[in-house]
Amino acid sequence: MSLDAATPFTAQQLDEAGRELLFTAARTANSFSNEPVTDDELTAIWKLAKWAPTAANTNPLRVLFVRTEEGKARLVEHMADGNKAKTEAAPAVAVLAVDTEFYKHIPNLFPIRPEMKDYFESDEAAASSTSRFNAALQAGYVILAIRAQGLVAGPMAGFDADGIDGEFFADGRFKTILVVNIGHPGENPWFDRLPRLSDEDALSWA
Ligand SMILES: Cc1cc2nc3c(=O)[nH]c(=O)nc-3n(C[C@H](O)[C@H](O)[C@H](O)COP(=O)(O)O)c2cc1C
Repeated sequence: MSLDAATPFTAQQLDEAGRELLFTAARTANSFSNEPVTDDELTAIWKLAKWAPTAANTNPLRVLFVRTEEGKARLVEHMADGNKAKTEAAPAVAVLAVDTEFYKHIPNLFPIRPEMKDYFESDEAAASSTSRFNAALQAGYVILAIRAQGLVAGPMAGFDADGIDGEFFADGRFKTILVVNIGHPGENPWFDRLPRLSDEDALSWA
């Protein structure tokens, strides 16, 4: 299947199996089998996630796929102790980072308002809040895309961000926001399922 800007779209309800795979049955993985994940699968994850929306189509997220032994060793060193073993075991790990100079792409990504590049370039606070918020949205899309690809995800915020940035993004432009283990579930992969908020606690109506 190829997807591009000309692909026609009709909204329709996802079937129950799709809802389970993406949301209701899907779980966060804490152990991984030896089954490898290919670069084609990792690329396919991005080819899904990139289509989900961002403000002014800014697309500020950048993805570093770490899947060599050498790369994993460099990454694991900067993970929190409780996250080291599962990151070592995962066949692939995505380092999700925000591009602090995302606005350089605006003339291409948002040609109806190319001057927004100058706005963000001259207002660091606006650039930072917009890019971090939208990169976090895209991180959520990546987790769902991993599930849609038939793989399991283990997102982790426990790491030394400055350490990872120094190791992989030494020029200072990309800033790590989340690390996500990717693979197939290993032994006892799930922690006990935790509750979610009741509708009463989460929803209000106007
Ligand atoms: C942004 C984010 C950061 C997380 N950080 C960690 C982490 O550092 N270590 C860890 O073991 N789990 C981490 N988790 C996993 C969550 O605890 C887990 O996804 C949540 O409890 C739901 O689990 P479930 O999908 O199995 O229901 C993180 C999840 C997210 C989305």
